[in-house]
Order: sequence, then structure tokens, then C-alpha cells
Amino acid sequence: MREAEVLVHDTPEALATAVAARFVARLVELQREGTEPSVVLTGGSIAAAIHAAVVASPDRAQVDWTRVDFWFGDERFVPRDDPDRNIGQARRAMLDHLPVDPRRVHPMAPSDGAFGDDVDAAAAAYAEQLGDTAFDVLMLGIGPDGHCASLFPGRPEVQDQRPAVAVRDSPKPPPTRISLTLEPLSRASEVWWVASGEGKAAAVRDAVQGADPADVPAAGPHGRDRTLWFLDRDAASAL
Ligand code: 6PG
Repeated sequence: MREAEVLVHDTPEALATAVAARFVARLVELQREGTEPSVVLTGGSIAAAIHAAVVASPDRAQVDWTRVDFWFGDERFVPRDDPDRNIGQARRAMLDHLPVDPRRVHPMAPSDGAFGDDVDAAAAAYAEQLGDTAFDVLMLGIGPDGHCASLFPGRPEVQDQRPAVAVRDSPKPPPTRISLTLEPLSRASEVWWVASGEGKAAAVRDAVQGADPADVPAAGPHGRDRTLWFLDRDAASAL
């Protein structure tokens, strides 16, 4: 594993465009090598901008989108049609605009899905579905408190050994969520962090400098080959 690489862009827009271009280029490269890529998407505002930028990418047609698997790092446990769902956001901004194979899109269950309101069962089912899948590119956002996916500082989920867990009373609304835990979040060739804004600066600094994941969960996930931090100037301002 190489040391984390930090790439700073002037604005959130430039950051989103650069990450999207690199994402498309990486998928093209993996497919040329004969790999069927598995990627993990994240929620949050900068992720939404990246998803839209992928659709706007001039090179997007070079990817065979039917041969890409899409997973999620976390999900808000709300009804299927709730606009808060990360899968809904990813669909609206990106997946609905690309010729993806719906069988290769792997959302976490909603609260009105097969498991009803049993969030533990929904998390366990996702862990089962995931099996030992290793990811090629895993994107993660970071919160001002140092959370990633739905792993929050000082909470037991950070230490949980199960691959996917229920999260209740999340400090970031909505309160009930499903999250991958630190082991699968490091089961990726490349982990790509994406962060924008001054509110993230201290958390980014602590995570990059290797804080204790119990206090700063974002210090936990590392790519097996590369860990990249895509930041705008404000998010990089404490480095
Ligand atoms: C979620 C997330 C969460 C997010 C960060 C950053 O579902 O809420 O996956 O971990 O990525 O909170 O979100 P912003 O980009 O909106 O600050």
C-alpha cells in the first residue's frame, strides 16, 4: 500500500469534474485489462456532483456500463421512494442516464422492502449479498465530525466485525441507516476520498494524518493499492 495521495482542486466544480474524468478513465483501463469493475458509490452532496459530472463526461461512451457492478457504502433506511435514499440520488444523477445492467446495481434495502422495518435483517442481507467481493474503486465522503459511510465517531459500529451493520440514532439525519464497516471499506484496490468545503478541513487533516478510527472513522479505510484524497482548496486548508 502506497502512502495516501492528496489532489487539490480550486473549486468543488473542478473537483467533481476531475474525479468523474478519473473514474471514467479508470473504468476504461480496468475493462481493457479484462476486469469487470466493481465500484462503491457514496452519498452526500459532492458525490451527487460527481455523479452528474460522470454523465457529462465526454469519454463516458468508452466504458461498457453493462459490465460494471455498483455497490453502496451506506444507505439511509427510509422508504423506497424517499428522496433521501443514496440509490435514488445515484439513479437520478447518474445510473438512469447510463446503459447499466440493473442486475449489477446492488442497492441496500429500503424500509418498505423485503425486510420491512427490520434494519438489522436488511444489513445482514447486504453483507450476505456482498460476500467476499473486492472492489476496484471505492468512493467515500467524510463528515465534519470525521464520519465516513455511516460510521460515526465513538460509536460501536466502527469496531463491528460484521461487514454491514444497522445504525440507529445517526447524528446526521435521517437517523436509521445501514453501513459497511471498516473491513469491507478497505477491501478495495483504490479508495477515493472526496471532500469539499472548509467544514471538512480538520476532519480531513486528522484522517490523512492517521488518527484513531474510533475517534475519526475516516482514518480507517485504505486502498490495498492506492488511497487518493480528492479535495477542494477549502477542504485541504488544514493540511
Ligand atoms: C451519507 C454518506 C456520508 C457522506 C458524508 C459527506 O449517506 O450521508 O454516505 O458518509 O458521504 O456525510 O456528505 P457531504 O458531501 O454531503 O458533506
